[in-house]
Amino acid sequence: MSIYDVTAISVQDYRVRARRKLPQFLFDYVDGGANAERTAALNETDFGRFRLKQHVMHDVSSVDTATTLAGEDAAMPVALAPVGMAGMYARRGEAQAAKAAERTGIPFTTSTVGICPVEEIQSATSRPFWFQLYMMRDRDFVLEMLARAQAAGCRNLVFTVDLPVAGMRLRDYRNGMLGGGWRGALSKLVQLATSPAWVVDVGLHGKPHNFGNLSHKVANPNDLNAYKAFVDSQFDPTVTWKDIGWLRDHWQGKILIKGVMEVDDARAAADAGADAVVVSNHGGRQLDGIASSISKLPAVATELGDRIEIYMDGGVRSGIDVVKAVALGARGVLIGRPWIYALAVRGEQGVVDLLDVFRREIATAMALIGVTRLEDITPELIEH
Ligand code: FNR
Repeated sequence: MSIYDVTAISVQDYRVRARRKLPQFLFDYVDGGANAERTAALNETDFGRFRLKQHVMHDVSSVDTATTLAGEDAAMPVALAPVGMAGMYARRGEAQAAKAAERTGIPFTTSTVGICPVEEIQSATSRPFWFQLYMMRDRDFVLEMLARAQAAGCRNLVFTVDLPVAGMRLRDYRNGMLGGGWRGALSKLVQLATSPAWVVDVGLHGKPHNFGNLSHKVANPNDLNAYKAFVDSQFDPTVTWKDIGWLRDHWQGKILIKGVMEVDDARAAADAGADAVVVSNHGGRQLDGIASSISKLPAVATELGDRIEIYMDGGVRSGIDVVKAVALGARGVLIGRPWIYALAVRGEQGVVDLLDVFRREIATAMALIGVTRLEDITPELIEH
C-alpha cells in the first residue's frame, strides 16, 4: 500500500489493510489454510485456468445481475459464507455483516460458532439470514439450536460436512493462537499491544467475546480455550448421509450441504434429500493437497445441476470470478475471507463497499462477454 492509495477497492486492498490492523493471530486465523496452504492457494489461482470469451456488438445497455439463491431474491449471485468468530474481527461483527448483506440485497450466513447469537442478528436485520450447522454429538442441543435459528427467522440451513475433524492450520500454532504455553500468551499480548485500533473496537467495545449460540453450554463463556475444548469434544465425526433424513425432520426450510467436492458425494447429498450442495474445500482449511473448488465445479454441475442447485466457494476474489463460476454451472458463490477483511478494515460499510465492487465487476464482465442476464452465462463462454 503506497501513500498514493486513496481507498480500498479490491479484496487484496482490504487484505493488506486488515493485516495492519488486526493482531497477527487473528489475521493468520482468517488468512491461513491447512498445512502448506497449497489448496488454499490453488482455490484462487485456478480461476486463472478458465478464461472468459469476449463478445462484442450486443445490446448490453441494461444488464441484470439479480437472481434467486435457495429460493430468496438476491441482487447478485453472491452470499456471505459462514465464518466462525467473525465477531472478533469487528465489534459485533456478524450483526454488522448481516446488515451489510441486507443493504446489498444478498444472503448472510451465520456460523454455529459465531460470536453474535442468532437473536442478536435477527434484531439487527429484517432480511432472513442463513444458519450454518456443525453436527454436535449432543443431538438435543442441535435441536435446540435449530429451533432457535428458525425462531430467529432463518429459512435456509447450510449443513457443513467437511469438518469431522479440524484440519491442521499450522499458523494457529506458530503464532500462539492455539497452545504455546506462556510463550504463546506472551506473544499474543505483544500482538495485542501493537493493534490499538482493534483493542478499542473489538477488545473493549465488542464484548462479550464468546460463541453466542453456544454460551449457555460452556462453563466459562469468556474463555475461548474452554469453548474450543467444548467444540472439539462436541463436533461429531460419526455423521453420515443417514443423518440428513433426521435433519430434514427437524428443519422446515431448504438444506444446503456444504463441503462436497466429488460427484459421487454430490449425488449422495441429492439422494439424501438436500436442496443444494456447495462445492467447497472449506477455503483450503481442511485437507491440504486436494483440488481447488472451481476445478471440481464443472463435473458436479454437469452431473447434478438438473436435480439440485449447485453453489461453490473458495478463492472467489472478484466479480469476474463470480461470472466464471456461474458459467461453469454455479447458481451462485459464497465468499469467506473477502468479507472478513473488509469487515475488519471498515465494519459494515467496508462490506457494503466491497460488495458494491463485486456487483459492478459482475455487471461489467457480463456486458463485455455480451450477455444481459445470468441465465445466458453458459459454459460456451469459457475457454479452458
Ligand atoms: C471458515 N469457514 C467456515 N465454514 C463453515 O461452514 N463454518 C464455519 O464456522 C467456518 N469458519 C471459517 C472461519 C474462517 C476464518 C474462514 C476463512 C473460513 C469456511 C467458509 O465458510 C468458506 O467455505 C471459505 O472461507 C471459502 O473460501 P474463501 O472465500 O475464504 O476463499
